[in-house]
Amino acid sequence: MTKEERFQNRIDQDLKIEPKDWMPEAYRRTLVRQISQHAHSEVVGMLPEGNWLTRAPSLRRKVALLAKVQDEAGHGLYLYSATETLGTPRDETIDDLLAGRAKYSSIFNYPTTSWADIGAIGWLVDGAAILNQVSLTRTSYGPYARAMVRICKEESFHQRQGYEIMLTLCRGSAAQKAMAQDALNRWWWPALMMFGPHDTESTHTEQSMKWKIKRERNDDLRQRFVDMTVPQADYLGITIPDPHLRWNPDRHHYDFGEIDWEEFWKVVKGFGPCNRERLEARRKAHVEGAWIRDAAEAYARRQSEMKKAIA
Ligand SMILES: [Fe+2]
Ligand SMILES: [Fe+2]
Repeated sequence: MTKEERFQNRIDQDLKIEPKDWMPEAYRRTLVRQISQHAHSEVVGMLPEGNWLTRAPSLRRKVALLAKVQDEAGHGLYLYSATETLGTPRDETIDDLLAGRAKYSSIFNYPTTSWADIGAIGWLVDGAAILNQVSLTRTSYGPYARAMVRICKEESFHQRQGYEIMLTLCRGSAAQKAMAQDALNRWWWPALMMFGPHDTESTHTEQSMKWKIKRERNDDLRQRFVDMTVPQADYLGITIPDPHLRWNPDRHHYDFGEIDWEEFWKVVKGFGPCNRERLEARRKAHVEGAWIRDAAEAYARRQSEMKKAIA
């Protein structure tokens, strides 16, 4: 049996691949790309919501949002660490983001223009992320799968805090309900785009499914999201902005309209409403945070020198 066959065998038996195990270079590269994109998404995802921290309508809302945004920073850290186990230093991964070479989820290139957007993001964006991430708890690379287990627990709190904001707005004044509807109108389609292109168009799907990096297809996850979310919108009493949306009793799923793929690719390629702004904010934070990285490194150096001196 060749190394490649032994590797595929382990995967077929649902055994995890660990950092020191032999793996094909392409498997390693695919994982580095996917996990680092995921890490960047967590970190860039803090920006649209961070925008509302100072304007949260009550102390309770502020505390919950602050906790959620901090959770996302933590998710970024687990995932950057998982990337490091594949032999890619964190500096390199972060440089790729800051230089505009790396991708992150396009959803974060849309602006947050009202408080209701914070509700819609938790409900829809974290809701969509959970579906994807739950399937990744079974991914074949051990450190990535284990990071996902922890992340998923926190994501479900994010989804609930978002839905609760929507529920409060929808039970409030007519103006508040209109805000909630407007947020749904603007976030619905970008949320559906989060699952990526149709599998027939996706260059990575087949190989990633074989390696069990990816456990479910984009279109299946997207369908599950629609099926899960429509009753939640009904309960809120607001309308999903899709004239083609209807229950299909034969398929036992909702049928829904086609995504505007032109918009999707435009945002992926860097021409969305906030792509430039997001990267500029990250670059600024990186420069302004240099002193604390230097201080942390100096402290770590001192600690290890002192330990050596004692020993
Ligand atoms: Fe997250
Ligand atoms: Fe989240």
